[in-house]
Amino acid sequence: MKRIVMASLVGLVSAGLLTACYYDKEEILYPGSANCTPVEAPAFNTDVLPLLEKKCNNCHSGSFPSGGISLDSFAEVMKYVNNGSLMGSINQSSGYVAMPKNAGKMPACEVANIQKWIDSGASNN
Ligand code: HEC
Repeated sequence: MKRIVMASLVGLVSAGLLTACYYDKEEILYPGSANCTPVEAPAFNTDVLPLLEKKCNNCHSGSFPSGGISLDSFAEVMKYVNNGSLMGSINQSSGYVAMPKNAGKMPACEVANIQKWIDSGASNN
């Protein structure tokens, strides 16, 4: 019994160390990503919209959104999910204007959370 407790303690501690290490490297490769937690099943209202609010909506909301593109509601965001320009611009793929404009590319972890939400059906959840 004691051994099992010890083993799981060691497991927990090393998992913690590994996680810290992963984040350290991730932070070097993708500045800002330490604030991002990979989410297994991202939801629109809790995981996607807050990212857009943080990185995009100083330009893409309000009465005169940049490029006429609003990203502050599910219905609006879906237009750009469906025409491919949301991920095209975030991934900075050729053929799309790179976003966020005049700022660094979003960390891989944030891009992955948005992509996972789309891949799982882009629900208004
Ligand atoms: C500083 C202002 C600003 C920020 C921040 C910004 N955008 Fe934009 N965005 C623009 C402008 C302006 C345009 C219109 C195209 C142009 O003039 O470059 C645009 C265009 C777009 C387009 C259309 C691109 C295309 O190729 O059709 C999409 C999609 C988009 N933005 C998404 C986003 C997303 C997602 C974010 C956040 C990750 C973001 N934008 C952050 C200003 C901004």
